[in-house]
Amino acid sequence: MKDLVLNDGHKIPLVGFGTYKLLGQDAVQSVADALKNGYRLLDTAAVYKNEEAVGKGIKESGIDRNEICVTTKLWRENLGYNQAKIAFQESLDKLGLDYIDMYLIHWPANAKNYTNWQKANADAWRAMEELKADGLIKSIGVSNFWQEHLDALFQTANSIPAMNQIEFHPGYWQPELTDFCKQKDIAVQSWSPMARGKVFGNAVLENIAARHNRSVSQICLRWIIQKEVIVIPKSTELSRIKENINIFDFKLSADEMTQIDTLPEMGFSGELPNEWPDRAESPNSNNL
Ligand SMILES: NC(=O)c1ccc[n+]([C@@H]2O[C@H](COP(=O)([O-])OP(=O)(O)OC[C@H]3O[C@@H](n4cnc5c(N)ncnc54)[C@H](OP(=O)(O)O)[C@@H]3O)[C@@H](O)[C@H]2O)c1
Repeated sequence: MKDLVLNDGHKIPLVGFGTYKLLGQDAVQSVADALKNGYRLLDTAAVYKNEEAVGKGIKESGIDRNEICVTTKLWRENLGYNQAKIAFQESLDKLGLDYIDMYLIHWPANAKNYTNWQKANADAWRAMEELKADGLIKSIGVSNFWQEHLDALFQTANSIPAMNQIEFHPGYWQPELTDFCKQKDIAVQSWSPMARGKVFGNAVLENIAARHNRSVSQICLRWIIQKEVIVIPKSTELSRIKENINIFDFKLSADEMTQIDTLPEMGFSGELPNEWPDRAESPNSNNL
């Protein structure tokens, strides 16, 4: 399994396992299956309400915890110094771990929800820097940050994020943001690498898959890791869990990479960092 080296010196596998929408025993089983089949990176979040199950899956797998890179995330309604510290401890307790490998701000504060969004992100970040200094987190990063959110964070941060987890799949891959992150030595991680299934049925991807005798999922994942971007596909099916990590023994040509790069927009989730919440999620949001 290939790793990337983060700007803080820690390593992270190029392929990990996503857990959004996995709950209860399904989550325990899928996480254990993923670990038993070679995954060493897990992605969860406080808002997924499965941190306990992910922790149980780690134990059930029998794999040494120190071999596994665990990511969890600070939810966007908890951006602030004290809130971040409390939320982090809750995540740690639910996971049943004594440290987290990667802790991310899940979505940046925005002007719709915070009177001073820059300060909310900066305060949460300061709390995360302290937790890292205390040895409770190995690496800290962000998710769904655009350049404007990163530039604002750089004004007060002592350390720049190790990673930015963003929507990234054929048909919507934010190339300018990706280039900006790479210039700043911020690793990029793709969420929804198959656009939650919306890429299936695309003729260009199907042709490339047929040429390599691979699935469309494997083509999407391979295209992403060939860009040195980390992937975290989610699946509950054992056969797919195995399929999604089996992407290191073939290579897409430069022409195939370009064909996928230039696909028209498809599968965009519609989620934007400056727009949340589109659907009223919490009556308290506007007061934070
Ligand atoms: N930071 C953020 O804001 C954010 C947002 C979204 C997601 N994420 C993270 O990114 C992870 C991945 O994204 P995602 O779960 O939204 O989408 P995804 O990984 O692109 O797609 C998951 C869907 O594809 C299906 N699938 C997986 N492998 C397959 C295969 N080989 N063949 C056919 N179908 C397959 C799964 O169904 P089955 O389960 O039935 O196989 C599931 O319905 C999440 O789980 C989460 O950890 C983060």
